[in-house]
Amino acid sequence: MKALILAGGAGTRLRPITHTRAKQLVPVANKPILFYGIEAMVDAGITEIGVIVGDTRAEMMAALGDGSAFGVSITYIPQDEPLGLAHCVLIARDFLGEDDFVMYLGDNLLEQDLAAFVAAFGAARASDSPPDAQILLKQVPDPHRFGIAELDDDGDVVRLVEKPADPPSDLALVGVYLFTPVIHDAVAAIEPSERGELEITDAIQWLIEQGRRVRCELLSGWWIDTGKLTPLLEANRLLLEKLEPRIAGSVDAASVIDGRVEIAEGAQIENSTIRGPVAIGAGTRVVDSFIGPFSAVGAGCEVVHSEIEHSVVMDNSRVVEIPRLEDSLIGTDATVMRSKLKPRALRLMVGDHCHVDVE
Ligand code: TTP
Repeated sequence: MKALILAGGAGTRLRPITHTRAKQLVPVANKPILFYGIEAMVDAGITEIGVIVGDTRAEMMAALGDGSAFGVSITYIPQDEPLGLAHCVLIARDFLGEDDFVMYLGDNLLEQDLAAFVAAFGAARASDSPPDAQILLKQVPDPHRFGIAELDDDGDVVRLVEKPADPPSDLALVGVYLFTPVIHDAVAAIEPSERGELEITDAIQWLIEQGRRVRCELLSGWWIDTGKLTPLLEANRLLLEKLEPRIAGSVDAASVIDGRVEIAEGAQIENSTIRGPVAIGAGTRVVDSFIGPFSAVGAGCEVVHSEIEHSVVMDNSRVVEIPRLEDSLIGTDATVMRSKLKPRALRLMVGDHCHVDVE
């Protein structure tokens, strides 16, 4: 079993952050989103991983290297343009060879581990009616916003529909798929959709029409497509709730640490209150400030005389004299400061290297 992780794409819905960086490498709970996916593969026993890369190829390669840091081997597969999820399978043909594989959307996060999902496919493959694909489904309250599956009485998939006006079920397709090599015939047979992309839903539908069996598994834990700000902050919240409390940095006597808090090596907390769940990165200074629940402040940051809550602040950024920063995403090497003292709350998405001075 191999894995194909999709980490190209345009990331238009997370601009301006994605003007300068890959959305899959935005950190949640101080770890890049994609790292969670790779760790899930490792836990499922998969060690050969192909990563589809687009414009952010250099950044992706710098972050993942040859995969040895994760105990896997990574092959990079360049995609010139984001021509669709099925197009990713098409260009990964040589890497995938004749192996079964997991296809995983690099900006998705799942609570449940993948090992059981992979094992269920293995067991079904050994049965009398072996499937050629397995999809993961999650019940959603608003099915018209998702790709939705219609099942038969045996629980197999009979139809997939994108964002249906009249949904046949409330079971949305989660960004994890399992395929046998028959999928290569499917992606070669289909035509681009109206939006000009080769759709994986069309490829799966093709399998069904060829009489192939498509199984499904229901996801029990949460699943988040982090491609937009609100779900990204939600993922940060959910992962911070699982954080192992750890204080490796220094905390002075005037500071209060409360709840599930990680303070990494070399971080300094001075005259401040940190109310968890919160993660503070290595070497970050927090002075005369309050960092409230569901905040992740990266490494090498400075937070001075400010309040931060429910936000992600990436590495090497400064937040200075901000009475309240909430529901915000601040890129790397950015500065958010205020020169005149007027109290107000801020809600921001600030790109890398930006300087925001609130007057
Ligand atoms: P999407 O979120 O569907 O697309 P996108 O990344 O282009 O984002 P936006 O809609 O904000 O412009 O992509 C899901 C994942 O698959 C994501 O990790 C990017 C990746 N992807 C590719 O690698 N190649 C592709 O051709 C497409 C469409 C997506």
